[in-house]
Amino acid sequence: MNSLRRSLLFCYPRPTIKIQCSSFHSTVSVMLPKVVATRRLLPDSQARLERLKNIELVQWQGEHTMPREQLLESVKGADALICMLSDKIDKQVFDAAGPQLKLVTTLSVGHDHIDLKTAREKKIKIGYTPDVLTDATADLAALLTLAAARNMKQGIDAVQNGGWQDWRAAWLCGYQFTNKTLGVVGLGRIGQAVAKRLGAFGINRLIYSGRTKKEGVDGELVPLDQLLKEADFIVVCCSLTSDTKEMFDYDAFKKMKKNAIFVNISRGGVVKQADLAQALKEKLIAGAGLDVTTPEPLPLDDPLQSLDNCVVLPHIGSATWDTRSTMSDMMVDNVLAVLENKTIPYELK
Ligand code: NDP
Ligand code: DGY
Repeated sequence: MNSLRRSLLFCYPRPTIKIQCSSFHSTVSVMLPKVVATRRLLPDSQARLERLKNIELVQWQGEHTMPREQLLESVKGADALICMLSDKIDKQVFDAAGPQLKLVTTLSVGHDHIDLKTAREKKIKIGYTPDVLTDATADLAALLTLAAARNMKQGIDAVQNGGWQDWRAAWLCGYQFTNKTLGVVGLGRIGQAVAKRLGAFGINRLIYSGRTKKEGVDGELVPLDQLLKEADFIVVCCSLTSDTKEMFDYDAFKKMKKNAIFVNISRGGVVKQADLAQALKEKLIAGAGLDVTTPEPLPLDDPLQSLDNCVVLPHIGSATWDTRSTMSDMMVDNVLAVLENKTIPYELK
């Protein structure tokens, strides 16, 4: 391990404690349970984690994702692993950890970065953060939809670079929601919260595609093709799976309306990004708003960066103090539970 890496790793305390066995007048060393965290948590949860007694805490202190080799090294002997969506938790990580690993808990509701099959085979529990981030993420999806529909990127650019001159009747005209159709792909927790928010802006028809009909929702489950053809605003809120991977390709964009606004808050992997760039360039659709891309961060020379009808945000859907603090606390609750052999409160079943 080089010295910079070592200085970015917080290890506390030493991995064994000595227990006095009075009946035998002898001392035995007991291995402390090891908790590995690939990032620091929000302050209150971080303090809780550091206050946990009788654990060995190994935590990456770096500003960026814990390097892969460091993760493989640190996870050895871990009982619980706190990870982020940017850490790939595959068989290699599970194998490196060893058979005592009981829990992997991720600071996200999305779990496409975790090899669930191997986790199941090895009887490792998976913790995650459903529900608590729904509002924050739906707020951001609504913001992105508005931003893309109302040419916010061009507007801000014009103010800052002198492009804002006299008032012009047709300048930067975009699209409004009144009496329009919203199509949500994946009407789960976040999808429903997005529909509720955009409904307040005047949407008068909700259509959605997915695997199951949602009871009690004022909307119509339709085949994806129909959604692509009929929706004015398409917001993608499904999880990334082998079925949804790259489901938005050139053909899909070609089916959309010319005035369609395409928004993705799910995962970058659901979109064939070069095809989206092409579709935006050719004005097959009017605009796009993305909170997620492939890769993340999106390289500065990616074709999407230079398109003024594409608003890109750096994966900040759940980034509010309230939400991220709650998510962080859920990580500590899960770790505490597993160390005490209790039921994990936020377990992915
Ligand atoms: P849910 O499990 O509630 O919703 C996921 C939805 O995906 C379900 O409605 C499911 O449909 C749908 N889905 C699954 N397979 C398909 C398919 N083949 N076609 C269409 N829809 C499909 O999860 P959440 O709403 O809580 O989160 C959704 C996703 O949002 C997460 O997996 C994550 O990737 C992403 N996310 C992004 C954030 C960000 O910061 N940008 C923040 C939080 C989440 P059905 O119900 O019919 O099975
Ligand atoms: C998630 O939870 O899946 C997001 O992408 C980050 O909050």
